Amino acid sequence: MTPTPQPSLVVVANRLPVDEVVEPDGTTSWRTSPGGLVTALEPVLRTNSGAWIGWAGGADQELEPFDVDGTHLVPVSLSSDEVEEFYEGFSNATLWPLYHDVVAKPVFHREWWESYVRVNRRFAERAAEVAAPGATVWVQDYQLQLVPQMLRDLRPDLKIGFYLHIPFPPHELFVQLPWRRQILEGLLGADLIGFQLPGGAANLVRLVRDRLGHEVDGEFVHLPEGRTVRAAAFPISIDAAEFEAMARSEEVEQRARVIRERLGNPRTVFLGIDRLDYTKGIHARLRAYSELVAEGHLDVGESVFVQVATPSRERVEQYRLLRDDIDRLVGRVNGDLGRFGAPAIAYLHSSFPREEMAALYRAADVMVVTPFRDGMNLVAKEYVACRWDENGALVLSEFAGAAHELRQAWQVNPYDINGMKVALLEAFHASDEDKTRRMRAMRAQVAEYDVAKWASDFLSALAELRP
Ligand code: G6P
Repeated sequence: MTPTPQPSLVVVANRLPVDEVVEPDGTTSWRTSPGGLVTALEPVLRTNSGAWIGWAGGADQELEPFDVDGTHLVPVSLSSDEVEEFYEGFSNATLWPLYHDVVAKPVFHREWWESYVRVNRRFAERAAEVAAPGATVWVQDYQLQLVPQMLRDLRPDLKIGFYLHIPFPPHELFVQLPWRRQILEGLLGADLIGFQLPGGAANLVRLVRDRLGHEVDGEFVHLPEGRTVRAAAFPISIDAAEFEAMARSEEVEQRARVIRERLGNPRTVFLGIDRLDYTKGIHARLRAYSELVAEGHLDVGESVFVQVATPSRERVEQYRLLRDDIDRLVGRVNGDLGRFGAPAIAYLHSSFPREEMAALYRAADVMVVTPFRDGMNLVAKEYVACRWDENGALVLSEFAGAAHELRQAWQVNPYDINGMKVALLEAFHASDEDKTRRMRAMRAQVAEYDVAKWASDFLSALAELRP
């Protein structure tokens, strides 16, 4: 067996881009998980004989490195305590709500922080072991903000990039964090720190200046040791061409027809698809919709709201509470307003393969994406990519990163229920000409700025730094 060459590009992310599947004979194997990041990076990883370091998703699982679809995967294991303290705790009950405008109250626990430090160190050590001399290492997201500096201490020869997929909060919120200094210092280990929006980069630069006293100049931070770090926006996207091709296939079109039939062939299908997360504004959106029905602006036989909520982080308390809230709301709305065979809201708590998502997008007349805060929101872009007929309406929160690019959507403030009701009705009544004009402009944006462009923009910006 030829030894795997040392990778000159290493991606470090909390999760490996694979799912474990159980074969009919009971054995398990790995399959590339559907998702933009891995599709975008697969070709670059292949040409650089790259590697991906990440967690396989289980507890106390010791796995050897393995290859899937030409990507070399290096598993990092987490103990069940670490799943609780590093993943569910510090990552998803401290950082996640803090970085999303404290939509839920962040919980601060010193043990969780200690676990976060320990697990970040493990990822950094793994990256230091596998990367070739002078390699590029690209660290992803809020779970791993200490990795850049830890890795630089171990391997000063590396070029290090960091990308934050979620919002980076303003000074006033970030400073609540008892470990704010350590997080800033961790991030500054990178040569390039990427954000979804320019505002996130500006927040970081200001914090670094005010809290650490470093000299800053626009997007650049000058460290006392002479190194320069750049913080800039690189809005992420999807593989638009792949989504469009899927949406044009006969199978998906057929499935979209079946979905509409099963819904009773309503005149208008409204659709929401989200991870079941309190940042997504699912409850407020369903309330706005149900008020429109209760007030007679929409009729249950003629319109239906399909809400798909993908199970997520189910052991974290806030997520459990949210699920109960939504269950209760949907039950009440359908109990009050539904008719036999015609619910006001068709609610599914499950996850679907991408083809089924594409069929749902094809079946939906009005796509409703109303997060209170969202780094980007790729569902909005996927909907646009699937509307090759240039029809369909998008109602989009102004607090989603995507709102900066999808300007022709019906933009709403998700805290303003009446405002959402107005936008939902406008989208519902919009003429075909109006919808086509908006959709055409949004489609041009999504087609040009796809995920491959995102990855190559980031990696070339990183390559240009520090020759
Ligand atoms: C967001 C985060 C990702 C995360 C994903 C799913 O998109 O930015 O880092 O992987 O949610 O969440 P999970 O906790 O299941 O990894």
